[in-house]
Amino acid sequence: MSRLTITVNGQEVHGNSREPLLVQLENAGIQPEYQCRNGMCGACRCQLKSGAVDQQDAMAFVGQNEILACRSIPKANVELEFNYELIPSLKSHTG
Ligand code: FES
Repeated sequence: MSRLTITVNGQEVHGNSREPLLVQLENAGIQPEYQCRNGMCGACRCQLKSGAVDQQDAMAFVGQNEILACRSIPKANVELEFNYELIPSLKSHTG
């Protein structure tokens, strides 16, 4: 499946099964927290409430049902929950 739906803090956006969730959310105008973008820092950690992801190699600690958005590629429709208010991404302003 290449097209899928990402639900993030109750908001639905279109996604795909090729790119990391962090990139997809940014492209959809949503900016989760991040620092390293390669699985080291844990800043992009969020809860996976439903669905499935391919989590690639990551060093940062994640708890049960948590994923690193920068290193996770969705395999199906997913529902994510960040425990803070998400801000609009810069990309949505600059195109
Ligand atoms: S941004 Fe650092 S682990 Fe995802």
